[in-house]
Amino acid sequence: MWNKTSKSVETARIIKAAGREGYFPAPQGRKAGGPGARVIAVASGKGGVGKTSLVVNLAITLAAMGQRVVIFDADLGLANAEVLLGITPPYTLFDCLYGSKDIEDIIIPGPCGVRLVSGGSGFLELANLDSERRQQIIESLSYFDREADFLIIDTGAGISRNVLGFVAAANEVIVVVTPEPTSLTDAYSLIKVLSMFKIHSEVMLVVNRAGDEREAVRTAQKIEKVVGQFLQIRVRVIGWIMEDRLVSQAIKDQEPFSMFHPHSPAGQSISKMAKYLITGQHQAGEWSPPGSGARSFINLLARLFG
Ligand SMILES: Nc1ncnc2c1ncn2[C@@H]1O[C@H](COP(=O)(O)OP(=O)(O)O)[C@@H](O)[C@H]1O
Ligand SMILES: [Mg+2]
Repeated sequence: MWNKTSKSVETARIIKAAGREGYFPAPQGRKAGGPGARVIAVASGKGGVGKTSLVVNLAITLAAMGQRVVIFDADLGLANAEVLLGITPPYTLFDCLYGSKDIEDIIIPGPCGVRLVSGGSGFLELANLDSERRQQIIESLSYFDREADFLIIDTGAGISRNVLGFVAAANEVIVVVTPEPTSLTDAYSLIKVLSMFKIHSEVMLVVNRAGDEREAVRTAQKIEKVVGQFLQIRVRVIGWIMEDRLVSQAIKDQEPFSMFHPHSPAGQSISKMAKYLITGQHQAGEWSPPGSGARSFINLLARLFG
């Protein structure tokens, strides 16, 4: 367990402000995707933990498995999914909000059939959106109901209104953590906000940059334990990616590892997660850590009614 005290002050402040200012769309109307598109937001609290790398490689892998995938880069003003994909979008959300483009005009084709909506880079306006424009973007997500099987939303660091608005608009959320204590506390703060506002009843968890499998399991268990103890939200561990030079080199080379090295350990980890997302099931023999899935649900029920 780690010391949560300093973070809980900040989280409490955000929760208070959120209640006052109506951070989130109403829960009933918040699902952007219908039966057509699954809208999955990837968030973490802490920056630099591997969200964009996960989004890009997961998107490519899902597309290789026959899914229609759109990446929606909601790290507004600091978007870099395009950098990892090695493409230069002619238009971004900036052109939608402040120019004359519609959402369908700014969808860019990327590798393996993945398509991208860029959040724009270097635009201060995007990083500090007013609530009306933020709502305008969030509503534009419904366009993808017919256009995609998976809409994967990459979010920025922190638990700002921009981040929480997109996480609230998604059907599902993946929280990325690394074994570092700062990543764990920030992920906990994010999950706490999601739980307090009943934005999601479950989060999927991916452990990134683990030194080995034991560290990955320990990291996931720390989150499961503290969430299980203090929050009414389920954590479903969907996989891990090891600390791997191939991953950082792929980013430097702008050549996603899932495309160029699909059989690498990192490529295989992503492939398992993609299969899990499509089928809803871990494959036989794959990692199912103690406390995840049905077991943690039963524990949750025991806590609620015990
Ligand atoms: N599994 C990994 N192994 C080694 N380095 C990684 C791994 N995942 C991410 N990184 C490093 O972390 C950096 C930040 O990754 P990024 O996906 O941009 O994070 P975020 O989107 O959360 O800010 C990358 O540039 C890369 O160097
Ligand atoms: Mg990023």
